[in-house]
Amino acid sequence: MSAAGKGLWKAALRRSTPLSPSCSLLVFERPAGFPDAAPGQFVSVRATEATAPLLRRPYSIMDLTGSSLSLLVKAVGRGSAALCAARPGERFDMIGPLGGVPFPEPGEAEAVFVAGGTGLAPVLFAARAWRRRGVAARTTLLCGAATKRELLGDLVKTAFGTRWFATLDGSAGFRGDVVALCRDLVSRGRMPKGVLYSCGPRGMVRALEETTGGHFAAHYTSLEAIMACGVGACRGCTVPVRSGGASVLKAICSDGTVFPAGDILWEEWEE
Ligand SMILES: Cc1cc2nc3c(=O)[nH]c(=O)nc-3n(C[C@H](O)[C@H](O)[C@H](O)COP(=O)(O)OP(=O)(O)OC[C@H]3O[C@@H](n4cnc5c(N)ncnc54)[C@H](O)[C@@H]3O)c2cc1C
Ligand code: FES
Repeated sequence: MSAAGKGLWKAALRRSTPLSPSCSLLVFERPAGFPDAAPGQFVSVRATEATAPLLRRPYSIMDLTGSSLSLLVKAVGRGSAALCAARPGERFDMIGPLGGVPFPEPGEAEAVFVAGGTGLAPVLFAARAWRRRGVAARTTLLCGAATKRELLGDLVKTAFGTRWFATLDGSAGFRGDVVALCRDLVSRGRMPKGVLYSCGPRGMVRALEETTGGHFAAHYTSLEAIMACGVGACRGCTVPVRSGGASVLKAICSDGTVFPAGDILWEEWEE
């Protein structure tokens, strides 16, 4: 990760591309001095100049090149809708890169990525960043969405060696969720025993760990939670994890976002 640390930036939107009925790819000019970031880190964006919504909104970095910073934004409420409606040239306040623990590199092992919805953002950043660094030549992606129109298949055409898709309605790929797809591939001997990297809804990650975690050498997950400060001060985004036989509350924004999925105490984690 960058030694330069986080900062407050003004980033100009270069282009916004709708990818599905609810998701847009937002590519910003990389602000001068914006530090390098690692997969699993995020930025906290002030979605509008208006007083509501007041809080910044956290978004995983989906890619960071010498000149651009990309986010994948799903419109779910006022802040995200404002971001998806933004026009090229608009400038946004953002704090970042945030997050103290990124995805660890897989070394010689195959990297298996499982993404639910916009959980694709950090795993796509990992695949791209590691490929640029010559790491993890072998990559497999499992990507799930409700329907074919929500799948974001065009985004992942080139970044992964092998791609498997799942849709709940069966309109593309495996019929079912991405956890069922993973179980199916494991049971048919089609899943490499590599390092698993996941990001998606809490229930997805828990089911993935509980049903297929044992197949993999390790399982790291980038967690999401509703966040306020984004820097570990308010303790509003904690998750209980196992540490030395005890349960310890960790802040997802600063002690994560990435945790070993097997360390998370799912039963104790309140919605
Ligand atoms: C570390 C991190 C990375 C994220 N990365 C992405 C990403 O790459 N792409 C993306 O589209 N979204 C991402 N999110 C979720 C995103 O921050 C929320 O969707 C956004 O803040 C919603 O703001 P809003 O004003 O549109 O919605 P609100 O009007 O505030 O809420 C609308 C609905 O969304 C739910 N919601 C609000 N914030 C969150 C949240 N943080 N997590 C889960 N549900 C929430 C609310 O409970 C409510 O049901 C990430 C969240 C975190 C914590
Ligand atoms: S959002 Fe404040 S501690 Fe994480």
